Amino acid sequence: MKYFIGNWKMFGIPGSIKIIERINNFLSKDKKNNKKYKVIIAPPFTLLSSFNRKFKNKRISLCAQNCSQFDNFGAHTGSVSAYMIKAVGIKHVIIGHSENRASGENDVILRKKLFTAIQNNLNIIFCIGENKTQKRNKLTLQVLKKQIKNVIMKNCNFKNIIIAYEPVWSIGTGKIPKPDELQKTLISIKKFLKSHFRSKNSFKILYGGSVDYKSIHNFKLIKDLDGFLIGGASKSSKKFIDIIKNFYK
Ligand code: 13P
Repeated sequence: MKYFIGNWKMFGIPGSIKIIERINNFLSKDKKNNKKYKVIIAPPFTLLSSFNRKFKNKRISLCAQNCSQFDNFGAHTGSVSAYMIKAVGIKHVIIGHSENRASGENDVILRKKLFTAIQNNLNIIFCIGENKTQKRNKLTLQVLKKQIKNVIMKNCNFKNIIIAYEPVWSIGTGKIPKPDELQKTLISIKKFLKSHFRSKNSFKILYGGSVDYKSIHNFKLIKDLDGFLIGGASKSSKKFIDIIKNFYK
């Protein structure tokens, strides 16, 4: 099963529901392949609840883009807890996106976020990725392992966690890793996950960063890839559908 997850970031108004409707229509018609993949869309918090009511029994699932490090309710202006996300029927949450890491989310905070998401039975898409300097200094694997080790508890069973590998230098830049380089990184991360965690469940890794209808061709032959986290191209139904179409072409 491959995942195509759309992260809308700070985009979307009520009328943007049309984008999801069109994607959902495509999924219903794509009888040839639609059992092979799952589509999840992460609109902003303002739209989550109303969109979710509309797509409750549909093939598309919705996802929150983040959650608070604190659980339940509390005096945390502007924050939304995993408990509140769960209460409106959302089952997925993105944690550790590099854009949020850049504005202050550190490993200690991320550890708490992951914990509260697990407590609330949410499926977690946990983002990791090296920046340009780290890549240049050949620190990629070291950085990725540290981001995983510092946040995910050792006894975690990975039933509800998917790792999203998003190199920071690739997000929104049109630059993507070379397929053999990406394959090597994925194999190394999976090997590390197997040795570090005693999980009976299989480990899933997505790739994110400048995935679009053209670049998707580069990822078709990469075996260890379980899907994609898509930013810019997920804001247009046509662009998003073309990614899926080209992947299975
Ligand atoms: P782009 O697809 O726009 O590069 O963004 C990737 C991303 O950050 C998804 O979370």
